[in-house]
Amino acid sequence: MDFKALLGTQLPIIQAPMAGVQDSALAIAVSEVGGLGSLPCGMLSTAKIVEEIQQIARQTNKPYNLNFFCHQSLAFDEARQQLWRSRLKPYFSELKIAPSAGGASRVPFSHEIADAIEPFVPPFISFHFGLPEKSLLARVKGWGTKVVSTATTVDEALWLEAQGADAIIAQGLEAGGHRGMFLSKDISTQMGLFALLPQIVSKVSVPVIAAGGICDSRSVKAAMELGAAAVQVGTAYMLCDEARTSALHRQAIQSGRAAHTALTNLFSGKPARGIVNRAMNELGYMIDDAPEFPFASIEMGQLRAAAEPRGRDDFSPLWCGQNAAGCRQIAAAALTLELAGDFLDVN
Ligand SMILES: Cc1cc2nc3c(=O)[nH]c(=O)nc-3n(C[C@H](O)[C@H](O)[C@H](O)COP(=O)(O)O)c2cc1C
Repeated sequence: MDFKALLGTQLPIIQAPMAGVQDSALAIAVSEVGGLGSLPCGMLSTAKIVEEIQQIARQTNKPYNLNFFCHQSLAFDEARQQLWRSRLKPYFSELKIAPSAGGASRVPFSHEIADAIEPFVPPFISFHFGLPEKSLLARVKGWGTKVVSTATTVDEALWLEAQGADAIIAQGLEAGGHRGMFLSKDISTQMGLFALLPQIVSKVSVPVIAAGGICDSRSVKAAMELGAAAVQVGTAYMLCDEARTSALHRQAIQSGRAAHTALTNLFSGKPARGIVNRAMNELGYMIDDAPEFPFASIEMGQLRAAAEPRGRDDFSPLWCGQNAAGCRQIAAAALTLELAGDFLDVN
C-alpha cells in the first residue's frame, strides 16, 4: 500500500504526536499543507479531547491522526511511592515545598473515550504501548478508522500485525519521548532506526512508518529507500511557531544541550528520551526506585511546577530525540514541505 492509500494525504509525512508540547494548532498546520497532523490525547481529559477535535474539524477538512496511550493500568503502590518521596526529599526541602497526594494525568484509551470521539469518525488513530483490548480495538476499526501502533522490536511488529494493526510505526532508539515498547522492559532490546526498519519491513506485510532521528528531506528519502511507506517526525517540529514547547524546553534545545540525550524513567516510570538535566545527572537515568508508569510523574511534576517558575528545568522532562539538527523556529507548513522534498514534485 502506498502512503496515499494509507494516510489519505498528499505527502508521506506524519507529524508525530507529542504530548505536552503541542495541541491542535500544530496538527492543523501540518494537515492543511498535505501531511498528517497528529493530536496527542494521552494527557488530555475527555472534554479537552473533544474540544480539540472540534477545533481541527472547524479549521481543516484534511485527514488527521488522534494518538492515545494504551498502557496496562497498574495498581498504585503506596509503599513504593513513599520510597520515591524519600528519594526526592532533598529536592522538596531545597524548593521549600511538601509532597502532596495527587493523580497522574495519563489514562489509557477506554470505551468512555471511544464514546466521546465516535461521532467524529476519526480517520486515523495511533496507539503507543501496544493496542487496546480486542473489543475496543474492534470497535474503533468498525468505524473505518485506520489503526496503527508503535513497534520497537521485530517481535512487537509481528504482534501488532497479528492483532490487526493497519500499519506499524518502527520507532528507532534515536526517537524523542517515550519508547513505545510493550513486550519487554529491557532497553537493551531497543535498536536504531536503520537496523530496526529493514528488519520489520522484511517480516510484516502491512505498511511500515519510520520514526526516529528523521530531520530533513534526505533522511525522509533514506527511510523510504529502506522500505518505509511514510515517516513520522517529532523532534524537528518542536521549535515550530505552532508548537507549545515551553520557553525552558526551547532554550534547552537551542542552547546545544540537545546534543546529550538519554533514556530515563525518572519522569513517568517508563523509559523516554530527553535532554540530560540535573535530576537525571544526580539520580541516574534509569533507576529501580522510580514507581511504575505513570506514578513517578506525581512527585516529579510537583518539583517541576515549583522549579520552572524559578527558571530551572532541573525536574522537567525535556523530551527530545538524538537528532535535533532539524529544529528551527519556522512555520510547521514550511517544515513539512521541506521534509517532503522530492515527494512534492510527484504530486
Ligand atoms: C516531545 C515529544 C513528545 C512525544 N509524545 C508522544 C506521544 O504523546 N505519543 C506518541 O505516540 N509518541 C510520542 N512521542 C514519540 C514520537 O511519536 C516519535 O516516536 C518520535 O518523535 C520520533 O523521533 P524524533 O523525535 O527523532 O523525530 C513524543 C516525542 C517527543 C519528542
